[in-house]
Amino acid sequence: MAAVPKLSQEAVLVTSTPMPADTPIIKGYDFNQGIDYEALLKSYKYLGFQGTSLGQAIDEVNRMLNWRLSDEPVLETDDEDFAHPGTALPGQVAGYSLATTSNLISLVDCIVTTAGGIEEDFIKCLGPTYLGEFSLKGADLRMRGLNRTGNLLVPNDNYCKFEDWLMPILDTMLAEQKTNGTVWTPSTIIHRLGKEINNEESVYYWAYKNNIPVFCPALTDGSLGDMIYFHSFKNPGLIVDIAADIAKINNMAVFAKKTGMVILGGGVVKHHICNANLMRNGADFSVYINTGQEFDGSDGGARPDEAVSWGKIKLTANPVKVYADATIAFPLLVGETFARKVFADKAKANQQ
Ligand SMILES: NC(=O)c1ccc[n+]([C@@H]2O[C@H](COP(=O)([O-])OP(=O)(O)OC[C@H]3O[C@@H](n4cnc5c(N)ncnc54)[C@H](O)[C@@H]3O)[C@@H](O)[C@H]2O)c1
Repeated sequence: MAAVPKLSQEAVLVTSTPMPADTPIIKGYDFNQGIDYEALLKSYKYLGFQGTSLGQAIDEVNRMLNWRLSDEPVLETDDEDFAHPGTALPGQVAGYSLATTSNLISLVDCIVTTAGGIEEDFIKCLGPTYLGEFSLKGADLRMRGLNRTGNLLVPNDNYCKFEDWLMPILDTMLAEQKTNGTVWTPSTIIHRLGKEINNEESVYYWAYKNNIPVFCPALTDGSLGDMIYFHSFKNPGLIVDIAADIAKINNMAVFAKKTGMVILGGGVVKHHICNANLMRNGADFSVYINTGQEFDGSDGGARPDEAVSWGKIKLTANPVKVYADATIAFPLLVGETFARKVFADKAKANQQ
């Protein structure tokens, strides 16, 4: 029998250098131990691929939530009152609605979202959104007055109900502008709408109750814009000041001792949060969850390292990007971070 050629043998059986002792080992969850979702989620970090990224994102959000001002040395240049670490959380990306409670939302300092992210939160309080199929035919749906967002269906009637609810509020806001000189901004409009909806199902109701600003730099790019357009015929004159909101969000970032960002999806919200953090030379904690890719040069697809080059994430940070649909990854992340902290704090308070 002929010997294996030396060249081939050396090529295939090349000798490895030993791995450093602390290198993590890939290992999946052992279901023989029963179904323990906490242990299952803890095992993600060692699964590899995006499972590992989700595990790392959970660790990064917990570092963000567990950071305390008392951890930091006080500098001579420090102001007396530092704000809490700013956690900017876009509440909704396409088709995804964050179900939250007052407890959970009180852990964030501000929210940045799109017009779609605002109006769908209110519309769901006025009429249901239904589960459909991605494959439903647009022409058939149009004939039936049903709008499709991915595999969700929103009856057009819901937008009519939204108009009936919103128009009198816009009338009152315009009257306040004319008589009291009120200057409306996207964030004060959302605050007012959160108050008016008066419904515990609404994220922005809880944001209103907890006085958490919700920023929406492109407030008019959706049904809200359609309503503001119609209102301009019926009762013209409403002015919305975006300059005041850019000052408000940037100041939140500048005057915080530390900031953290949890960013779902791409688009304007991703950049708006990162850009506010440029004003402070970078965020300290960062998690992106999106499906965007960087090959086309888009900001939406850019990895955190691109933001480091711009000074939007600190050189010393450990940012994580999870390439995943937020509807899968975000509830798991919330369960292991924000929600776990709320229940742990409650249990601690009950013991005292
Ligand atoms: N229902 C709606 O989605 C809706 C309704 C009305 C208006 N709009 C308007 O459309 C405009 C564009 O919306 P956008 O900024 O949300 O951008 P988008 O929906 O185009 O999403 C931007 C990028 O974010 C990522 N992404 C989106 N959904 C994701 C998910 N579930 N998981 C992970 N990554 C995801 C993708 O990479 C995507 O390319 C906004 O101005 C918005 O107001 C949207």
